[in-house]
This record gives sequence, C-alpha cells and structure tokens, in this order.
Amino acid sequence: MTRFDLVLRGGACVLPWGIEEADVGVREGRIAALGDLRAAEAAETLDCRGLHVLPGLIDAHVHLRDPGDAAVETLETGTRAAVLGGLAAVFDMPNTTPAITDRTRLDWKRDHLRGRAWCDVGLYVGATKGNIAALGELELQPNVCAIKVFAGSSTGDLLVEDDASLEAVMRSGRRRVCYHSEDEYRLQARRALFSPGMPHRSHMEWRDVETALLGTRRLMALARRTGRPAHILHVSTAEELDYLKGFRDLATVEVLLNHLTQTDEAYERLGGYAVMNPPIRDRRHLEAAWAAVRDGTVDVVGSDHAPHPRAAKERPWPETAAGLTGVQTIVPLMLDHVSAGRLSLPRLADLMCAGPARVYGVAGKGRLAAGYDADFTIVDMKRRRVIEEGWIVSPCGWTPFAGHRCTGWPAMTVVRGQVVMREDEVIGPPRGVPVRFLEARGA
Ligand code: DOR
Ligand code: ZN
Repeated sequence: MTRFDLVLRGGACVLPWGIEEADVGVREGRIAALGDLRAAEAAETLDCRGLHVLPGLIDAHVHLRDPGDAAVETLETGTRAAVLGGLAAVFDMPNTTPAITDRTRLDWKRDHLRGRAWCDVGLYVGATKGNIAALGELELQPNVCAIKVFAGSSTGDLLVEDDASLEAVMRSGRRRVCYHSEDEYRLQARRALFSPGMPHRSHMEWRDVETALLGTRRLMALARRTGRPAHILHVSTAEELDYLKGFRDLATVEVLLNHLTQTDEAYERLGGYAVMNPPIRDRRHLEAAWAAVRDGTVDVVGSDHAPHPRAAKERPWPETAAGLTGVQTIVPLMLDHVSAGRLSLPRLADLMCAGPARVYGVAGKGRLAAGYDADFTIVDMKRRRVIEEGWIVSPCGWTPFAGHRCTGWPAMTVVRGQVVMREDEVIGPPRGVPVRFLEARGA
C-alpha cells in the first residue's frame, strides 16, 4: 500500500490549471501525489474538507530588521508572524543595521536564520556605490533572491541614484534586479516646498506621481540600453502601470497590498501609521492597481512589511518613520479581496506564489504540483474575523489594518510537509531554511 508522511484530505486545491477537489500526498517534504488517495496510508492526515488548499504563499517583500532593533522585529518574530498569517516563505530586504551588502554579512544572515526562521527565507543583497564591482558575484551566492537597489532614498542609507552608477549596476551581472523607483533628485528638490509639522498627507504631495514616474522612466531607459531585466517594486501610480506595459520584455511589476487596499483618507485616520514609501495615494491609483491586477500587468503582490517603533511613527511629519507592518495581514486581506470579488483564488496563487517563483527564479517552489516542495496555505473562505492589534506578534505591536473585517482566513500553514501553523497555534521548532534560486549557486 502507498504510504505518505502526510495527506491533505478533500480540500479544494488551487492547482496551476484550476481548482479541483483532491487529496494531496506528501513524502519527505515534497508533494508525492495528487488525486484520490483514500486507499493510501498516512502517518498524519489533515482534514481539508470545506477548505481551499493553495500552494504555499510567498511574501517577496519584507523587512525583518535583523540585524537591527529586536524591540521592533527579528527573523524569529517576523517569520512567526508570516506563518500565523498563512505564508510559507518570505524574501527579506537588505536595509538592516548594518545592511547586507557583502559576503560576510550575507553568510552571517544565512547561518543566523537556521533554527530561528519559522518559514523559508530568500535573501536580498543591497547595492551601494561601493560594492558595484562585487554585485555580479554576490547575486550568484546561494539563497540570494535578487540585488535590491534603492534608486530613491528611503529607510536606511542604501542609495544608488545617478544614471552612471545605475548603469554600472545593470552591467554588473545577469539576474533580474529589484528597484525602489523614486527619482532622488526630484525628492531632494521638492523637500524645500514643505515644512516640519505639516499634515501627514504632505507625504504623498512631496513624493508625488511625477517622482515615481520619472524614477521608472530613467530605470527603464537604462534597462533598455543594457538589456538587464528589472523588477519594479511597489509600483504605486496609474502612470507607471501604463508606462510599464511597453516594457514587458524587460520588466516585471510588484504592487503592494497597501496600494490595493488604502487610499489617501488613511492620512487623516491613521496619521503617521499611513506613512510609507512610495506613498499611499488617491483612489485613481488604487483603481489603476486593480485594473493592472485584472489585465496581468502585475506579476507579484507583496506586503513591504516595514516595522518601526511606535515612537518613530508618531513623530511629526516629515520625521515620521516611513513603512507599515503587513507580513501577518497580507493573506487575510487578500482573501478578503477575493471574497469581495476583486480577484480569484487562482489569481491570488499566481500573484503570491507562481509570480514570485517566475520573477525571482525560485527552485522547487511556486506550484502545487508533484515533486515541488510541500508548502501549503490552507484557507477557510467562510471564516469571518476582525484583524486585532493584539494578534500581531511583531514586537513593534501595531498594524494599520486594526479593525478591518475579513471574510476568508488562513487556517493552516504547511512548510515542506511540516504543519507550522494550525488555528492560530504556531507549531515548532522553527525549521525554516534558505530558499533556493535557479540562477544562484547551490540550487
Ligand atoms: O516605507 C518604506 N519603508 N519604504 C521603503 O522603501 C523602506 C521601508 C523600510 O525599510 O522602512
Ligand atoms: Zn520595501
């Protein structure tokens, strides 16, 4: 008789080719069989009747602040938040203190996450004007998801803003490069138009549509000249989404949950807890983001989870720290968008699993299919639940989505065949490993 380590029974499986009711058999951390497995023997069974089984969802854009300030977030707390929220993997940004910009720090982080991470973790390396010559080698290091370039300044001191340096970055290697795209020169020039203590809404007026569009135009001109593939992170304007449709041979697109969920009314309601880069904008841009989800312009949806201490969020603008928490809430909120009819579950799996796998070249994840890692996000689309601040496990302790009523909620998270979250309980020990990438060593 066929024997599995784990069988998921009777769930509605979100397969790459559609939703089908099926059992899923897992052996040695991988998907071993899909179909009617009632005759099989299983060491462990998960009753998934009435639930949807998605491929393990990935948040390809989180800032876990490790090394940094443990009172705000660590790899342990950030990945605990991830699995509680239904994520099977996260890709962690390099603007830590100190930043991940060389082999020594990258190796440290890879070692550091073992025994601490609750889900699997991909690692970004940050570009600086001082490490351009090393980037070609750094992007090939095991478990590197991409080089991250801050072409406009944000939290931390990573910045590569001029065309000559950006072109040198693009000529340094071959893999797809990820960009924070806001034009630094326009940002600096516009600073003088604003004064301390102005309302938080000034944030979106300072970092305006033109700042984002100009940044993306400059990057795409350089990408075209060098032929280097680009991933434009957190595209936040209707204008860029339209413009990027002309670059699909080179560019992939990330949109954030925040830009699909919040509009500028948030500045009055949430004050500093609405401030992020690029900023939350008016409804026209939110509508454009949804249109771009529907027409396929968007490849990836991420959270840009960027925790800060409350005190830093409550400083008067423009001293307010930019960045919002989101790793624990992205799946519930996206499920709520599914319930509201804004996208389908297969499109959600595309945006948060197959999309990241394609854009970053993930090895062995990204599909609910035989042979792939047994990562699952198991959700109950009937469950209604309000996001409560007390549920947030990031030590900073806040969410801009407190009080949001969700229809649809993650019930279980499975990472390489291990149930790591079941009904709000995190089940240990932490067994997360570094994610492997096709074009990096060790894949
Ligand atoms: O709002 C943001 N916060 N945008 C970024 O680009 C960085 C992030 C952070 O690290 O705080
Ligand atoms: Zn970010």
